[in-house]
Amino acid sequence: MNPVVKPVAIPLNGLTCHGKFHNFRPPFSGLQPLYYGLLPVLPHLSSELDNLRSRGLYRSLRLVEGAQGPRVRIDGKERLLFCSNNYLGLANHPVLKDGADAALRFYGLSAAASRLISGNMEPHRILEHRMARFLGTESALCFPTGYMANLGVVSALVGAEDAIFSDRLNHRSIIDACRLSRAKTFVYRHRDVDHLETLLGSRREYRRRLIVSDGLFSMDGDLAPLPDLVDAANRHNAILMVDDAHGTGVLGASGRGVPEHFGITHGVDVLTTSGSKALGAYGGFVAGNAKLVDLLINRAQAFIYTSALPPDACAAATAALGFIETRPDLREALWRNVHAVQNALNDLGFDLMGSQSQIVPILVGDAARTMAISDHLFEEGIYLSGIRPPTVPEGESRLRLTLMADHSEDDINRLIQAMADVRTAFF
Ligand SMILES: Cc1ncc(COP(=O)(O)O)c(C=O)c1O
Repeated sequence: MNPVVKPVAIPLNGLTCHGKFHNFRPPFSGLQPLYYGLLPVLPHLSSELDNLRSRGLYRSLRLVEGAQGPRVRIDGKERLLFCSNNYLGLANHPVLKDGADAALRFYGLSAAASRLISGNMEPHRILEHRMARFLGTESALCFPTGYMANLGVVSALVGAEDAIFSDRLNHRSIIDACRLSRAKTFVYRHRDVDHLETLLGSRREYRRRLIVSDGLFSMDGDLAPLPDLVDAANRHNAILMVDDAHGTGVLGASGRGVPEHFGITHGVDVLTTSGSKALGAYGGFVAGNAKLVDLLINRAQAFIYTSALPPDACAAATAALGFIETRPDLREALWRNVHAVQNALNDLGFDLMGSQSQIVPILVGDAARTMAISDHLFEEGIYLSGIRPPTVPEGESRLRLTLMADHSEDDINRLIQAMADVRTAFF
């Protein structure tokens, strides 16, 4: 029998489709659905899922009805959004949408091939040129996502004869990149350059040595000690890679990220970032010197064996870079919000885990209690996600609060009042 509940007209007009997607099911045309083929392994899947549920670690998707912004509709109700990476509020900005729209009309939807075959198009060239200029590097290369940029560059730079020195709280994409590279990985204590140097000093036998760190830590909101990492890399003749996915657009006087924040112009050999955080667009990037980019084009499997970023995504990211350069007021508004919220939460007695940025973790500890608080806030109209293991270490579950430039004073006051109530009810 055809399981269609109610087909929804597909031209996705954001206004008319509100709420209707709850009923949407893929329209099977009388063919046997392919997923019936999974039946023999279903008992295994069910027990894995039950196990996650029993440990309070089960996750499910929430559906945002409409575009991203400081307020979103979820489950038919408007909620204040305090867990998005849309830090500068650009994800639904007309300047980016016009750029993407023009590229879509001229270049079409898809690059329809990998970059090394026939998928290398003008929007890629323009974006890479623009990104290198923005980040202050000789060259840059785009990947489909930031996750893939990390996979691609680490596994192209080091292999089984090499060693990686990785901060304990680096993003999952870096951990996966280390594994994929097959290099021996040494994990140093979070932001502890003395520990890093001890490891570097006692592991000299490797062909190449790569130090890798988040620039702004995605779950902790603190910054890598970049000047000390540069010194350590110089002293030990190691390559230094920094993933600035959350710093780009936000940190530094002109938004160029963690290196600009620390006034560092030399010494970071490899910089990676993402187009889908402050830039409000999409894509992943590796920036460095021209030889690095040349090597990646030849050796990075996450670049070679995948389709090129769609032209409209390139155009949106390009538009974002230009926009960010001319709008320092966006960063100023974001930092005003950061300081207001951090001061208020500190006054309420929350542990913000040393956050130095728009990413403000609020330590809870227990995973179930974290989710109970997140659910309570959701009911109150505030969407603030809970983060549990394995994303963060056991016993360090937290609410991950993120701020945007376009949260209004009212939004911030509502959040602070709700957190004051949480403090009384849950701590
Ligand atoms: C530090 C860090 N690096 C890389 C990524 C991956 O970027 P993307 O979302 O573009 O794949 C993220 C995203 O969550 C991140 O937080």
